[in-house]
Amino acid sequence: MHNLSTSWKLRWTSALGTFALAFGILVVIALSPVKADHNTGSDTDIENEFEGDAEAIEYGRLLFARRCAYCHGGGGAGAKGPSLTKGKFKYSRKALTSDLVSIIMGGIPNTQMGAFGRTVDGDETLKIIAYIRQETAKRAEIEAEQAPAK
Ligand code: HEC
Repeated sequence: MHNLSTSWKLRWTSALGTFALAFGILVVIALSPVKADHNTGSDTDIENEFEGDAEAIEYGRLLFARRCAYCHGGGGAGAKGPSLTKGKFKYSRKALTSDLVSIIMGGIPNTQMGAFGRTVDGDETLKIIAYIRQETAKRAEIEAEQAPAK
């Protein structure tokens, strides 16, 4: 009688423990921003003072060619890494500069996209983004010209 009630108690405790663990894991998954939903990102953006600044964009172009084109293709058109000039981003629903800064400096966990925060500083990252914006605008212009007139 004594033994029976102890083993029942033990089983109950371990079941409760398993449940608590499973619940804990679920909470961690739900709170993990990248795993829970790719298309999130912030709602408010920061100003990129280098957009439209020819000298800064040229600097961004050189940095991009050196650090990013290997995966993202010449002009960011895409290679083994995704194209960055479609004006749409998987990891930023609103294509925000602030999201791109954190992607570039912090990387994307468990992908080939590494963190460049030690290689490029904040201003350099903004210059690369200014270059990406310019290439995006160029691409949109070319595609608009090529679209059949209706
Ligand atoms: C070793 C290859 C590699 C290099 C070098 C690299 N990337 Fe990436 N990058 C990737 C891959 C792969 C992804 C896609 C990750 C995914 O969605 O699974 C990515 C994703 C991104 C994204 C998000 C795209 C989206 O649609 O949300 C941005 C922005 C980006 N990279 C910018 C850069 C910039 C800027 C550089 C240079 C400083 C750079 N990357 C260098 C491989 C690379």
